[in-house]
Amino acid sequence: MGAGEDVSVEGGHLWYKDVIIYELHVRAFYDSDADGVGDFRGLTERLDYLQDLGVTAIWLLPFYPSPLKDDGYDIADYTNVHPSYGTMHDFITFLREAHRRGLRVITELVLNHTSDQHAWFQRARRAPPGSRRRHFYVWSDTPEKFSEARIIFKDFEVSNWTWDHVAKAYYWHRFYSHQPDLNFDNPAVRRAMFQVVDFWLGLGVDGLRLDAVPYLYERAGTNCENLPETHEFLKELRRHVDGKFKDRVLLAEANQWPEDAIAYFGNGDECEMAFHFPLMPRLFMAIRMEDRFPIVEILQNTPPIPDTCQWALFLRNHDELTLEMVTDQERDYMYRVYAQDDQARVNLGIRRRLAPLLGHNRRKTELMKAILFSLPGTPVLYYGDEIGMGDNIYLGDRNGVRTPFQWSPDRNAGFSKATPQKLYLPVIIDPEYHYEAYNVESQQNNPSSQLWFMKRLIAIRKRYVALSRGTIEFLYPENHKVLAFVRSYQDQHVLLMANLSRFTQPVELDLGRFRGMAPVELFGHTTFPAIGESPYLLTIGPHSFCWFSLEAQQRPAVTDPAGGKELATLTAESSWQDLFRKDFRPVLARTLLDYMRIRRWFGAKARRVQNATIRDVVHLPGGSAHLVLVGLEYTEGEPETYALPLAFASEPKAGRILEVSQQSVVARVRLHGRPETQSGILYDALWDRDFTDALLQSVIRRRRVRAAGGEILVFSTPVLRTVISSENGQLEPSVLKSEQSNTSVLYGDKLIMKFFRRLDPGINPDLEISQYLTWQGFPHTPPVLGAIEYRRGNQEPITLAVFDRFVHNEGDAWQYTLDHVVRFYDRALTLKMDDSIAAAARAPVPTLAQQELPSFPVEIIGPYLASARLLGRRTAELHSATFSGRPCTMRSWVRWTIRFSSYEDVWSRSPRRPVQSLRR
Ligand code: NOJ
Repeated sequence: MGAGEDVSVEGGHLWYKDVIIYELHVRAFYDSDADGVGDFRGLTERLDYLQDLGVTAIWLLPFYPSPLKDDGYDIADYTNVHPSYGTMHDFITFLREAHRRGLRVITELVLNHTSDQHAWFQRARRAPPGSRRRHFYVWSDTPEKFSEARIIFKDFEVSNWTWDHVAKAYYWHRFYSHQPDLNFDNPAVRRAMFQVVDFWLGLGVDGLRLDAVPYLYERAGTNCENLPETHEFLKELRRHVDGKFKDRVLLAEANQWPEDAIAYFGNGDECEMAFHFPLMPRLFMAIRMEDRFPIVEILQNTPPIPDTCQWALFLRNHDELTLEMVTDQERDYMYRVYAQDDQARVNLGIRRRLAPLLGHNRRKTELMKAILFSLPGTPVLYYGDEIGMGDNIYLGDRNGVRTPFQWSPDRNAGFSKATPQKLYLPVIIDPEYHYEAYNVESQQNNPSSQLWFMKRLIAIRKRYVALSRGTIEFLYPENHKVLAFVRSYQDQHVLLMANLSRFTQPVELDLGRFRGMAPVELFGHTTFPAIGESPYLLTIGPHSFCWFSLEAQQRPAVTDPAGGKELATLTAESSWQDLFRKDFRPVLARTLLDYMRIRRWFGAKARRVQNATIRDVVHLPGGSAHLVLVGLEYTEGEPETYALPLAFASEPKAGRILEVSQQSVVARVRLHGRPETQSGILYDALWDRDFTDALLQSVIRRRRVRAAGGEILVFSTPVLRTVISSENGQLEPSVLKSEQSNTSVLYGDKLIMKFFRRLDPGINPDLEISQYLTWQGFPHTPPVLGAIEYRRGNQEPITLAVFDRFVHNEGDAWQYTLDHVVRFYDRALTLKMDDSIAAAARAPVPTLAQQELPSFPVEIIGPYLASARLLGRRTAELHSATFSGRPCTMRSWVRWTIRFSSYEDVWSRSPRRPVQSLRR
């Protein structure tokens, strides 16, 4: 077992499909010993940052002994650590600590070439021609061989052959002349590479990036790329790795067209992963052209890959933005729009970081990241891009994108304590991207920073497996500026939309397949209107994106007269009132139960109803409405009674109700033996203006109604007259949309009637308390204006509805509080844990309540705390006004006890048992 293997990281054998890879160079991350160069100890010290960012794998650029003429891709010793970066022991500690935090580690396997300083090369150049040692590399007497092979580093090299004066022969190299290519035709080379693989995987490394893998073999008459021999070797390597290790990944760096790149997956028997090189420049083209075409086209031309395989996707990395996998015209376009300054060009690419490439445009940067994180593949994030680091195109080669990571606004960007002159590369001081503004410390403290955006994006990506493993289905809205697609995995569907344009765009999406589902926005959890028959219309802001989870609606659709869920049809004799006849009541009770079950105010959704009966029917004042009391018995617990005022409407009124207040419709009613036109609907009378108006009138006139089963009592307070008399015109009734456990009707902007649905015996505490406060003249609650009660026989009256003075509001305390709690936690996440915060976090709430508030909540939600204090004071005043000097009758004591015992029942089942702890 290797040193890194003692702690296991989660994820199963397909872990590489779900990870988020963070690419970094040890020397650029953090310098622990003030020598100006980052090291393994520094990296280990800063692993918490990566864990907090949310990434789950680290890809380390080469850290082996090397003359560093190609930043370590010129290896002089494969199985050791470059002394500037630390020791083997430091590496092992790093690996263990990374694994302990659930971070996988992928390292570099540079197969194709070594440094000319490697002992193998030094040996080879001195060995006799034709010997096994000499044949570790590829030699020739002429530089004409393999002339079809292109030169990759064309800004630096003129040939793939270089004369070696010691060997007196030319040696082959696809990259720099100081990087001779190994000869894979030599079995000893292959064996040596397997030993390197065993060494690192044996230590516990999780994966290997196979650098420059297409160039391992050379054959005359070919371009010496992607040769069959290379794939044979990779299959052998795969078998070797699988034979000795578990769940290790090979990641191919094959900068090729999709059809050649997928060959590196083999039939699932070569590499599990490969970079998607052609996609990357096309993401930049699409956002510049403000057209989705380049992205959609390249992905459509990407053949499917074996199930166990996954693309690695990236926007930027340590190299130039390579333009090898684009057409000549596309390359011209890219240079023109992204690298007008010649200094930004190198080889066949552009040496810039993400933020400067996108013109320092925050929206564009976020949009590109969001696209990257939503396409099929594992995203790879280049260090520094999470905070929008800048670059320095004057540093030569690709060093401009390899500068020290920016931790803070301190000297050397907090990267090193060395004198600035000693740094391996200078930090970024371009005024637009100065490290004093772009650094981890500043951004950690600001929840609106790029760093926090990245954290949120990563967190959401990790929550939706459809984003990492799902299929992709492109939508083709007419508006080409919008990229839209759905990622699906089993029954999880995520819809992604990106506006590639700098202006707001409308978009109509064909989401027919998801009809009836509702898009829920993933950052804010806002539920959007359900998907219906017609195309889904959305507006999307400049360079914005939206991620939606398509979710089956929580509540069953309300009866849909247009043909969805069928409305029940009740058949009565000649009048709708026949529905209340004794023999018909069981059918009516069942129909009403079906209706009630999907109402917001119905509190027993989770309980099983054993029996539903009609307890009473009372003809209500004003028109033909009837109050129906439905009794429900459950398989467990106490029975309940619900109140439903019902009315009937025939055409054309019925049609209007079905159109505008569908939620009120209980059933269709067919009148037997009557013409079709006289049939109609049974509906909740609270939606009937004549009825609600009549209710108010009966309260004003104190009109009592007797019925067979019971009687309706009304009363009003003197305040009602003052309110009514100040009103000249009619008080227009309207049902409030925000239903809770009751239904409220607003009369003009003066009065509000709360109609209670579940009826408890006796006076409702809502009425009882408000009545008392009104009588006391308590100024901070709206006065009671009247009430309607129901009495059966000699029993105590039950409150049906209460009328209060209406008070305008701009929302409610619940939502106001939720908004502030969200704001508080958003901000609290960015706080550094100091002693005062730690103490506050540990202390029990009652203790905290006795203490002076620490300063941080005041800074974050000060105004809210003032409102909460006021609310607390008013509540206390209310309690004191309610109970001071008021004799508690036995009747009210029993009633309150019953009421609160049912709350206790709920609370005592919750883990913290607040009632009991309060009693102590
Ligand atoms: C690809 C690496 O990404 C690049 O940085 C390096 O220069 C070449 N391979 C040669 O090793």
